[in-house]
Amino acid sequence: MALEKSFNDAMNIRVQHVEKIIKDYLPKEEGYAERVAEAVNYSILGSGKRLRPILMNETYEMYGGRDKVIEPFIAAIEMIHTYSLVHDDLPAMDNDMYRRGKKTTHAVYGPGMATLAGDALLNMAFEVALKAFEISPDKTTEIIKACRILADKAGIHGMLGGQAADVDAEDRKRFIDEAELLFIHRNKTAALLECSLMIGAVLAGAPQSEVDKLEEIGKSVGIAFQIRDDILDVEGDEKILGKHVGSDAENQKSTYVTLKGLEQARVDVETLSQEAIELTKKLSARNDFLDEVIEYLINRVK
Ligand code: IPE
Ligand code: IPE
Ligand code: MG
Ligand code: MG
Ligand code: MG
Repeated sequence: MALEKSFNDAMNIRVQHVEKIIKDYLPKEEGYAERVAEAVNYSILGSGKRLRPILMNETYEMYGGRDKVIEPFIAAIEMIHTYSLVHDDLPAMDNDMYRRGKKTTHAVYGPGMATLAGDALLNMAFEVALKAFEISPDKTTEIIKACRILADKAGIHGMLGGQAADVDAEDRKRFIDEAELLFIHRNKTAALLECSLMIGAVLAGAPQSEVDKLEEIGKSVGIAFQIRDDILDVEGDEKILGKHVGSDAENQKSTYVTLKGLEQARVDVETLSQEAIELTKKLSARNDFLDEVIEYLINRVK
């Protein structure tokens, strides 16, 4: 119990730290394009867990990273993640009305403006990431590598590819097997978590062998995270979750739960997470908080 409280406190300190950084990079609400800036700020400023920026900062510090070169990437990863949520909620996709404890962006601003707010967030992520070259001109090689990881993991071979396969499966209302579902989960969700862990290490100057291991850890954690998300869509509490429960069933979506059942889904979240924790032991640096986050995610309710 005492341990749990100290974990929550440690998490809250980190949430506040990354939110302060993210806020520094948000657009001003002014001029004729004011409304899209408003929609961007509305989308990103909800009660998000900020898991991706926190993980990025943890690996950065774990490999000895100390300066501000990480900050634009902390903002960028949350922008890309938020764009993925704004578009995911659109009527043409999951058609959801609640997110992060409030109305979805399209529910407030309309689908056209929500589409543009998502586009703006994606573009802003790279506008912001490029500022790293001004912050640390001595880290050009690391920054280029980080930008490439960000671009790859967000795109067709990452999050977007996973979302596209997910939409395709739903459009065709066809049965998908475990291999296809794992492809979807690995890409739509694990890719951005892999990206976060990898970029932190790259910017701190960790060797490629470490970055490769972090990609594997991110993959296991990410697939487990999406399986847990599928479970919470069945048995979560809307008030705690901050989003609608039962969305997958309404969309007649194939999920890990429809494929394997709730019990097996729970077991697989645990197994994948323990695999990830085993892998952290093989890293050359150690960060106990990273293991604690992975443990906490197994039974998360939000
Ligand atoms: C939701 O991500 C979408 C998935 C990848 C399952 P999060 O559960 O991290 O959402 P926020 O950022 O906390 O709102
Ligand atoms: C979407 O998965 C993951 C993204 C890349 C946005 P879901 O559609 O299950 O995410 P939620 O449940 O709406 O957050
Ligand atoms: Mg979806
Ligand atoms: Mg959704
Ligand atoms: Mg879901």
